[in-house]
Amino acid sequence: MSTWDKFSNSVIRYPDLGFSLDYSRMDAPDEWSAEMTAKIERAFKDRAAIEAGEIMNPDEGRAVGHYWLRNPDLAPDAEAAWIRETKDRVTAFSAKVLKGEIKAPNDRAFRHVLLVGIGGSALGPQLVSKALLPPNAPIDLLFLDNTDPGGMDDVFESLGDGLAETLVVVISKSGGTAETRNGMLETEAAYKARGLDFSKYAVAVTGDGSKLDKHAESEGWIERFPMEDWIGGRTSVMSAVGLLPAALIGLNIDRFLAGAAAMDEKTRVDSVDENASMLLALMWYHAGDGVGSKDMVILPYCDRLDLMSKYLQQLVMESLGKELDLDGNVVNQGIAVYGNKGSTDQHAYVQQLRDGLKNFFATFIEVRETRKGDAMEVDDMGSSTGDYLQGFLRGTRKALYESGRKSMTISLDELNAFTLGELIALYERAVSFYASLVNINAYHQPGVEAGKKAAGTFLDLLAKVRGTLGESEGAVTADAMAEKIGEEDVEAVYHCLNHLAANGVCSRTEGETVAGDEFTS
Ligand code: PA5
Repeated sequence: MSTWDKFSNSVIRYPDLGFSLDYSRMDAPDEWSAEMTAKIERAFKDRAAIEAGEIMNPDEGRAVGHYWLRNPDLAPDAEAAWIRETKDRVTAFSAKVLKGEIKAPNDRAFRHVLLVGIGGSALGPQLVSKALLPPNAPIDLLFLDNTDPGGMDDVFESLGDGLAETLVVVISKSGGTAETRNGMLETEAAYKARGLDFSKYAVAVTGDGSKLDKHAESEGWIERFPMEDWIGGRTSVMSAVGLLPAALIGLNIDRFLAGAAAMDEKTRVDSVDENASMLLALMWYHAGDGVGSKDMVILPYCDRLDLMSKYLQQLVMESLGKELDLDGNVVNQGIAVYGNKGSTDQHAYVQQLRDGLKNFFATFIEVRETRKGDAMEVDDMGSSTGDYLQGFLRGTRKALYESGRKSMTISLDELNAFTLGELIALYERAVSFYASLVNINAYHQPGVEAGKKAAGTFLDLLAKVRGTLGESEGAVTADAMAEKIGEEDVEAVYHCLNHLAANGVCSRTEGETVAGDEFTS
């Protein structure tokens, strides 16, 4: 079959959504095997079960409600009422902030929003603001999404006196995430250092009764918005987690939700050829043999979408990267996701994609309308900068295919709140479908929880080493310190000592090898 025939038979289009998916360069089979057809049928059934509110996250005994957020009519009565009420409260609060009815204690309107959160409680708002916030917006959005004090200082310094006109939104579903708590404490301290009462600037988005909720309540913060167990962190961008920051910077959250609802409707259809999310999931399965043997490279040819790869990295890898399947077998599933943007990446790792390891498939994302307003000619053929962007995409797609590398292309007519909602919903559903195809729970994150515990173990050891160092006289090596505190893991003790030395708690004299390094308090 010619590539043209292949192309014309392998494009799914939703003209009413300004969307299409071209999977012609994935070389997928024309028909799926009986085994695959059974998996597909199960995935369609799971889709219905998810939307009907069945417990589809068995490990945590939870329903999976993110599809309800953009269509509360699907949700049970209590959840539907909660969704509507939360959205109304977000809309009303944000409108008051934007109109200056809720303002900073210095009587001026808020000019900045500082979001403190991590993972699913930050990535969605980061994606949305980068994609949609106009450069001349009256209010901007900054982030503390880590426990790196250097990063925090940069944000506080960039705000400077502007801190007095900055609304702080602390977001944590669990209300107990260490990075977020630290960011909140550092922010509180930054306000205090300027003689400002933090509680007059602070808003929380968190689970009812969480540590953060209690803290916000007892400190009398301006407002508290709820999160529910049936919304996963990485799929929370259409709850208050994403809607509040988006509305506060003036974005049209109704259009965002409407775009997602419209895509959900298309991907609710139990027909492979008409369902873009199922096709996406099947292409992932086909490319990686159902075991994730090929990496997913996300290449948006659009600067405003450059966080899409980071966002999808979390959505896909935290959802699909699982040790066990739903029957308890060790499967070590997952798909590695990376990317940044085209054509920029053509001057970086695309070299390897074209000529190196064939261990990936690419997804190009294009926004057909490259610029609002007039195009500028940049050569004597009459080409514009946007023509070049398209040229680089088409050239790379062709070159990859000619050297045996597969790709898909998602096209959006334009980028706006509606189409961004579509794109996110497309991928959320594809992740759900893929999880069903490979029989895993996409809605829990035991590895994330394990990481949180491991950090706690190190912090306990660090406190012990710090305390013992304070009581010690003279210099100690890591071995000597480990013996003193009865710790078997000498390397961990060494890292504690080294960290303390780098941060002024003790000094270090270098030995011949790390084992000879001596630390003095
Ligand atoms: O998707 C997830 O569940 C995680 O990435 C969480 O969003 C992240 O760990 C932050 O959790 P929390 O919102 O409870 O602070």
